[in-house]
This record gives sequence, C-alpha cells and structure tokens, in this order.
Amino acid sequence: MAEPDVKNGPEDVAEKLSKLTMGDSKVEADDDDFVDPWSVASKSATGIDYNKLIKKFGSSKIDDELVTRIEKITGKPAHHLLKRGVFFSHREMHGILNKVEQGKPFFLYTGRGPSSNSMHLGHLIPFVFTKWLQETFDVPLVIQMTDDEKFLWKDLKLDVAQKMAIDNVKDIIACGFDKEKTFIFKDTEYIGQSPAFYQNMLRVQKCVTFNQVRGIFGFGDSSNIGKIAFPSIQASPSFSSSFPQIFEGKKDIPCLIPCAIDQDPYFRMTRDVAPRLKYPKPALIHSTFFPALQGAQTKMSASDPLSSIFLTDTPNQIKNKINKYAFSGGGATLEEHQKNGGNCDVDIPYQYLTFFLEDDERLAQIKEDYSSGKMMTGEIKKTLIEVLQPIVKKHQERRKMITDDEIKEFMRPRKLKYDYSTKK
Ligand code: TRP
Repeated sequence: MAEPDVKNGPEDVAEKLSKLTMGDSKVEADDDDFVDPWSVASKSATGIDYNKLIKKFGSSKIDDELVTRIEKITGKPAHHLLKRGVFFSHREMHGILNKVEQGKPFFLYTGRGPSSNSMHLGHLIPFVFTKWLQETFDVPLVIQMTDDEKFLWKDLKLDVAQKMAIDNVKDIIACGFDKEKTFIFKDTEYIGQSPAFYQNMLRVQKCVTFNQVRGIFGFGDSSNIGKIAFPSIQASPSFSSSFPQIFEGKKDIPCLIPCAIDQDPYFRMTRDVAPRLKYPKPALIHSTFFPALQGAQTKMSASDPLSSIFLTDTPNQIKNKINKYAFSGGGATLEEHQKNGGNCDVDIPYQYLTFFLEDDERLAQIKEDYSSGKMMTGEIKKTLIEVLQPIVKKHQERRKMITDDEIKEFMRPRKLKYDYSTKK
C-alpha cells in the first residue's frame, strides 16, 4: 500500500478534503473521508465509510451472493477476509467467475511500493488474500515491486529503494506463494529486460493526457514528470502481453487485481484505456484499510512507527504496543464498561482480531462478551496479543529460511507452471 507523502492523520483531514478530487468529479465539501493512493483519513472514529466510497468510486459491493458464487465455483469455503467484508468491493468479479466456469484462464496481479525495510501487519493483508486466491483458483500471479514509485515520491536514493524492494520481496515470499506460479519483479529491473512491458507503458501513455492524470491523482505544475508517467507503469502489468514469457505471447488473458481500495484510481485509468488498446479490462477486488493502532481514522503507516506493528517486532514489542497504544472501545471505568459494554466498531483490538483470528465462533463469542461488558479491555488486548505473537513469529521463521537463490528464482523472467493447452 502506498505510504503517504504528507502527514497522515485526522488533523489534516480538512485540508485534504478541501482539495479532494476523484476522477473528474469534485467531491462534496461535507465529505468526511479522504482516500487517494498516498493517504487515507477519516473524521469518524469508525473510520472510512466504505459504502459511500463504493458509490464515489463507482465500484460494486461484494454481497453474499458473490461470496456464495465463489464458494460454489471453487468448491472451497470463502476466506475469512472475504466473508467478513475486509474485501468488500469489486469490479467485474463476475466476469472472472464466468471465465472460470467456462474453463478459461485468468491471472492475478498485485504489488507493493517498498517504502520501508520492514513491512507491517497491514501490508500482509493483500498478500494473505492473494495467496488464497492463487491456491483456490490455481492460477499464475505477477507481483510488481514499485521501487521507481517510491524513488519518485519519497526522499529516497534509487539504490536504497531497490534494496528495500528486495527486503520486502522476502516478506512477500514468506507469505507462502507457489514459486512455480509466481513471478515477482522490480520495476527498475524488469522494465529494462522486457521490451513488451515498455511497449505497453508507451501505449498507455499515449492514451492518457496530463489533464486526466491531474484529475485522477491530483498532480500539479510542480509534480516531477516521473510521477506523471508513473500510472502507466502500474497499469501495464494488467495486460498479459506485458509478460510474453508467461503467457506465451497471448494478449487476451484477463487479469484480476486484489488490492486495497486506495489503489483503485490507477486501475480506473487502466480500465479506461484497455478497450482502446484492444486488451481486456482488469477486474478488481478491493480491501478496506488496516487501521492504525491509534484508531480507525487512519490506516497503519510504516512511516509512523507508533501506529504500526512490524513484522520484525519481538513478542514483547507486540505486547507493549498493543497494551500502550491500541485504541480501546471499552468503557472509561470498570463500572461503566460493565454497565454499557465495549464498542467493537471502534475498538482496535477487536478490529485486528477480525483480520487475524480465523475461528469464526471464537470471534463471535468475543464480540458478544466484549459488547456486553463481560470481557474487559485488558482481556481482549491479551487475546489479540496471543493471536498475533505466533503469527509474527512464524512469519519471521519462514523469512529467515529464504535464500538469495530463492529470491532470484522468483524474480527471474520465466515460464510459469500453467498449461494453456488445456484451456481454451
Ligand atoms: N502502488 C502500490 C503501493 O504503493 C504498489 C502496487 C503496484 C500495487 N502495483 C499494484 C498494489 C497492484 C496493488 C495492486 O503499494
């Protein structure tokens, strides 16, 4: 997920809201939320109003019918992030499912802007879900590391951004992707290796005017020209022709992009140009943001260490951060809590459990006990600590085992294990 350029917190919401543009339409001044690829902020304690966002962006809500259809087609139970509405919005997911029913192929594309050496818990979410999609649909996956993006946006030297990309690749591999079906690439490297990718960038660039990207991304007269061209780089992996080594030169394999909703502007632009290039429009499946420890008004951000639980944190750091900083929806006093119960809608420990505690029954019990005041703030925090510590520890153990050769193999342009001859 993109890290904000600017300070990211409720205090500068007003400023952001005042200059908010999305697409060509200015959003009303009374809007409470701000979302773009670089920052997320909401005035409300419960965070972004995602139903409103769906309307504003013009995407579709993931409803029970879609979840049931996915279960029916795959024959597998839906992932908890899907069932619980963390992945809440989509564009043309039904089109992808139609292809699957017809025995036709598709591929997955996701990415990461490497902006810090160590990733945090929120960064895991799209990758955990993408891994499930890859396993469930058994399809190839491309992962774009946008070291170029971070170089252009941040005060970072190019070699530092490139190194961060590799550090982040380790965390991504540690999520358990299938080496035979996954190609991870760094922009500063792959674009030099792949004429096909560069040619698609050019095609996209020719279709989009400065006026359009200014409208979509808010670029201005003082934006460096790298930023202005960058959307074409994030758009191009949506097209199978950018990876001739994987798709045997096929230009019409449709793509599904799991991403956090803040990345949608890039892909609205991509979907807009695709028909003009005679390529299929990418389908999308969007997640909500992972809230900061301090509360749902903003997302977890690696540039604000106190807002984040990092994948490098020790069990003790995890415990201390949660106990000290996790915003509580509990009552102010013991008596008040017992009388009125806790508010799960704003309680960060509860929110985090919805992302990481897979056991549906246990989660429902916690919700009941906490809301009724039977479970105390200290207890829900303790539960979260006990859930997160082993997840982070196991991640660290898997990450430690990843060798340089393995990274090289994931990042080598090559054919993936996928048999197109069985697919029409
Ligand atoms: N811009 C994204 C970020 O800053 C990285 C990215 C590139 C991405 N391609 C993507 C994210 C596709 C999701 C899907 O993190």
